[in-house]
Parts: sequence; structure tokens; C-alpha cells
Amino acid sequence: MRLTDHEKSLLDGEHGPAKQKAMDLLVRYGEALGAERLVETNNVAGAFNASTPSVQKIAEKGFDAVYSELNLDSDETVEIPRMVAHTCQLITGIDDRNWQIQGIPEHLVESQRKAEAFFGRRGINMFATCTPYQVGNVPVKGEHCAWMESSAVVYCNSVLGARTNTEGKESTGAAALTGRIPYWGYHIPENRRATHLVDVEIEVDDMMDWGLLGYHLGEVVQEDVPVLSGLTHQPDLVKLKHFGAAAASSGGVEMYHIPGITPEARSIEEAFGGRKMEGRLRFGDAERRRAYENLNCATSREVDFIMLGCPHNSIDQVWLAASLLEGRKIHPNTALWVHTPRALREVAERNGYVRMIEEAGGVVMSDTCPAISRHMPKGTKVVATDSAKQAHYLPAITGVEAWFGSVRDCVEAAIAGRWQGGLQ
Ligand code: F3S
Repeated sequence: MRLTDHEKSLLDGEHGPAKQKAMDLLVRYGEALGAERLVETNNVAGAFNASTPSVQKIAEKGFDAVYSELNLDSDETVEIPRMVAHTCQLITGIDDRNWQIQGIPEHLVESQRKAEAFFGRRGINMFATCTPYQVGNVPVKGEHCAWMESSAVVYCNSVLGARTNTEGKESTGAAALTGRIPYWGYHIPENRRATHLVDVEIEVDDMMDWGLLGYHLGEVVQEDVPVLSGLTHQPDLVKLKHFGAAAASSGGVEMYHIPGITPEARSIEEAFGGRKMEGRLRFGDAERRRAYENLNCATSREVDFIMLGCPHNSIDQVWLAASLLEGRKIHPNTALWVHTPRALREVAERNGYVRMIEEAGGVVMSDTCPAISRHMPKGTKVVATDSAKQAHYLPAITGVEAWFGSVRDCVEAAIAGRWQGGLQ
């Protein structure tokens, strides 16, 4: 791999042992990927204290030891200096306010608080959400980033036109300390061009249909780059957030184009950019139904738990849930959690939405989600969710059964304690 003089000096240890370890990791990683060089990045979104096990380890071994091991792949503990790149923490395992409802022991909450203070002082901004682009981290078109979290990566590449691969704990840990990441994959313009044309033959407008379209596409194109044609409705942030997360769950979609909407494709021709089309697909009634049936694996209609907010809800999504719950009561055998970034929960509180949800018996959670924390209401066997991603992962990770539907279907299930949704 070709290194600049500055990168060589980092590798030689001239900037301290942590940056030396970080550069060594990036060179090994880049060479394994076949990258010929590194690229500068000033935007890192990673996981520095994301899971309950790493918080446990922090309590036992200390912050430097855990960063060295989990973020720098080093058995030797090195002192961690301040990050050089703008860096933020993605989702964590613990909601600082609702940890008792999650069923998390207090000593882990204390460790998490200390970890946040430690990493915060070192320049890791504690956004604690899988949607950093909703709370201020909005890279510009063409900006090289190092992001983890598949739903954030596909949004970053496709909607913002910034450039990232799906990084890991180690590579983001090293990128934050060096301001470098291997130049490969979606950093290279040619790899960002479309491979498949998708003819959307039915109306796709509401959230649920965007989820079904994404889920179907991921299943079919897997890790390729689709370009969508035939859409008749303008999507917004929320719909594209939902769509990309679904496509990145059933497949590994990290980039897509919608001519006239996403920034690297004014037309289908520009989306392909001269690349040969590998396939032409359609999305009609049959494909929509198949995606819906693949997502709805539950057999029992008795629902224990309703999960809204994957990826984390926008403020308008919190409002939608609150408005559907207003003046009603959630069934005593059912729990409902609405997930949103902590910064947006603050807004939801000021707007009175949190109170509306809590008066109905629901909870507004931040900083975490059930798939990452592995915490759900005790005894949960059947979940209902408006998220294709959550319906895809929760059964696989936790063994529960899942229903997928609209926010309205989910709220009605919370009120009745029974799933009554279906495909219109
Ligand atoms: Fe976010 Fe958790 Fe979903 S990290 S995208 S809410 S699985």
C-alpha cells in the first residue's frame, strides 16, 4: 500500500503508540481488501461503547484497555488520545433514562455514564443513534466518511452522496485517531454506479410500501446497486431511511439511485454511468405480497411487544405514534416502545408528544434498540413492528415471532393486544 509521509510517520510511531496501532490496523485491513492507498476522512461514525458486554468490560478493565482491544485490535493497552476526525457514537445498549424498563442492572448504567464522559472528552460525540444524519452529522456530497451501521451507510451513500463502506468497530476506531480509511469499495466513483434497473410498476407512497420495496430489492440484488424507475411519488427523509434500512437487511445494499431524487443520478443513464446493466427487475403486486409474507413470520396473533422506531424515528414519526395513541390505553398484556435519538426525544418532550405516549402506557426510548441491546419486555414471544429491518432481525437474534405492518397496524395491536394488520 502506498503511504504518504504523514501516514508513514504515524506508522513509525512518531505520533504516539495509539496512532501507531491505528495506522498498523488500517494498513493490514487495507492490504487485505486490496486497497492501494488510504483516503483522508474527517467524518467517523462508530461504536465505542455500543454493547452491554463492552460496557461490562470497561468496568472491569478500564477505558484505554477496552478501546485498545475492541477498537484497535491490540492486546497491548495504549493510552487513547483525543480523536483527530469528527467522530460520533452510534447506537448503544442502554437508555440512560429507561434502563429499569429495559431490565439493565444499575452498575452497567453507571459504567455507561463513565464511558460516555471518558469518550466524550476524547472527542467522540455522544449522539447515540443509528441515524446521526437526523441530529447534525450530515456529510456533504463527495465527502469521504467511515461509518458503521448498514442503515446509516446506505443513507450516507445514496441520499447524501457522501462516500463510505460499511466499516467495523476496529476500522472506525483507527480512522477516528488517524483521519484515514482504506480507499476501496464505495469511495471509488466507478463502484457507485448502478448495476440493476428496477421497474416499479405499482404506486409506492406510504411508509409500509417503501419498506416492502426495500425488502424485496435487498433480497433480489443482494450487494449490487439498483436504480429505481417508475416512482410516481416524492419520498422524504423518513421514507428513504426506512427503504434503505430494509434493503440493507434482506440484502447488503449500500448504495442505490433514484433519478431526480438522489444526488448522483439525474437520469437512469447517469446512474449507470457507462457501467453494463447486469439485470432488469420489476416490483409489482406479486413482489410486494412476497416481501410482506416473508416479513410476517408470526403464528400467534397475541402480541406482547410493539417496537416502533427502527431506524430511530424522526420527530414527525414520534408525533404520528403519539397522535394515534392520544386518549387511548395500551392493552395490559402489551408493551409499546418508541425509539428516537435523544436529541429528538428532548424536542418530543417539549412538544408534549412524550407525555401523550406515556399517558397511553407507552415508553419513548433513546440511545438504544432491542436488536442491539437484546433487551425487550420480559417474556416477549411475539413482536409487532413498522420496521422491516426489526422484523427481519429480531426473530433471528432473539427467537421471537414478528408481525410487520404500518404504524397504525402496530398502534392498534398495542391497544387490542392482538395483531389485526394485513396487506391492503
Ligand atoms: Fe437502528 Fe437498531 Fe434498527 S440500530 S436501524 S434501531 S436495528
